[in-house]
Amino acid sequence: MSTLCRFCARKLRRNVFKASLHRIMFPSLLHRNRFTTDTSSVLSEMSAWQIHQYGGNEELSLSTTSRVPYIDHPNDIVVKVHAASVNPIDVHMRSGYGQVAINLLRKQCGRLRTGSEFPLILGRDFAGVVMETGQNVKTLTVGDEVWGALGAHRQGTHAQYTITSETEVSKKPESLSHVQAAAVPYVAATVWAALCSVGGLRENSTTGKRVFITAGSGGVGSFAIQLLKTWGADVTTTCSTDAVNFVRELGASVVIDYKTQNVFDELNNLKGFDFVFDTLGGDASVYADILKKWGNATYVSIKPPLLLNTDKLGLVGGVLKTVGSLGCNALQGFCDGRNIRWALFMPNGKALGKVAKLVEQGHINPVVEKVFTFEEVPSAFEKVANGHARGKTVIQIIPSEVC
Ligand SMILES: NC(=O)c1ccc[n+]([C@@H]2O[C@H](COP(=O)([O-])OP(=O)(O)OC[C@H]3O[C@@H](n4cnc5c(N)ncnc54)[C@H](OP(=O)(O)O)[C@@H]3O)[C@@H](O)[C@H]2O)c1
Repeated sequence: MSTLCRFCARKLRRNVFKASLHRIMFPSLLHRNRFTTDTSSVLSEMSAWQIHQYGGNEELSLSTTSRVPYIDHPNDIVVKVHAASVNPIDVHMRSGYGQVAINLLRKQCGRLRTGSEFPLILGRDFAGVVMETGQNVKTLTVGDEVWGALGAHRQGTHAQYTITSETEVSKKPESLSHVQAAAVPYVAATVWAALCSVGGLRENSTTGKRVFITAGSGGVGSFAIQLLKTWGADVTTTCSTDAVNFVRELGASVVIDYKTQNVFDELNNLKGFDFVFDTLGGDASVYADILKKWGNATYVSIKPPLLLNTDKLGLVGGVLKTVGSLGCNALQGFCDGRNIRWALFMPNGKALGKVAKLVEQGHINPVVEKVFTFEEVPSAFEKVANGHARGKTVIQIIPSEVC
């Protein structure tokens, strides 16, 4: 009992110290009415969809007393979320996917204060309005309309407010509503990571390149086709019969209908691609075969085995198994002059700034397939889990938003 009391007293002292430090660093947060520019005025509580353990859709519950996030890092901003999208990653994370690696990341970033990730708010991207800024934020001010996609270690965006960093967001294109804008950031940052950061493609070096994208009809594929088309690439993609016209309109010049055609026969006839962007996963060597040989051609998959392996085998076992399998593929690629790589979503405010310009110039259009209200979040998860996406599923959090 006395040990417990000593422990409690120590914890209390630590919390008092942290609170004082926080007050000294962020005096503006002491105002009772925090968001003074917002006439609807929000205090310390908000509505948010949370899970308290991993599982199915039944784990999603709407809390009206979730704590509004506060700034504890000088580069952070608090955003009022007007709209957010639901991505396959949200459905996977709800079920526990990636928990070992993501918890390690949370721990390293100091975001596992209570020792548990729960209650966990899902959702990785948003469009909204800046409500507060940390001391070091230079490019954004309160009232700016922004869009962004958050790192996996952060609490999510299926909530009235979210906290993010200046580096994870950019100004939202003015021509888009928040609902339209929310369809873009996560898929845009993923495509940027795969094509540019990992794959080495650049705006000025893509013209005339032959690129094959698997599954052009989904959220990632529909964005990737538009970006590559804008940069002058010749895009081939796969999709099912009812999506053929859809992906053609997005900019694919060759479309293989995987329901009625043999994809690999067709690809063998089309061989000699400069780049393969694989969103389906599977055996990399099969797609690597359709790349140009000895031409610095590149295969990038966004289905790396790392998170699944660490979930199954723990951190060390998972990393070792992944390094082993990636090493084999890389070696095979090295032997015939092709690059075989894996990419993961990375938050990237700079890339979103460039994408915003392309949207304003009319080169890229958000593809919103279906909009759900905030109360309908579980139905939105169900829609994404059922597959067959034709673009993006968006949650409209501020009801007055015009679609
Ligand atoms: N590594 C990362 O950081 C990262 C980031 C984002 C996404 N991802 C992963 O990338 C994948 C795609 O993401 P997304 O957001 O685009 O998913 P999505 O919006 O659910 O789209 C998937 C698309 O694939 C189509 N499809 C299914 N089987 C197909 C096949 N055999 N051939 C061609 N098309 C097929 C689906 O339509 P039909 O079934 O009707 O054909 C649907 O249009 C997901 O598995 C996601 O988890 C990874």
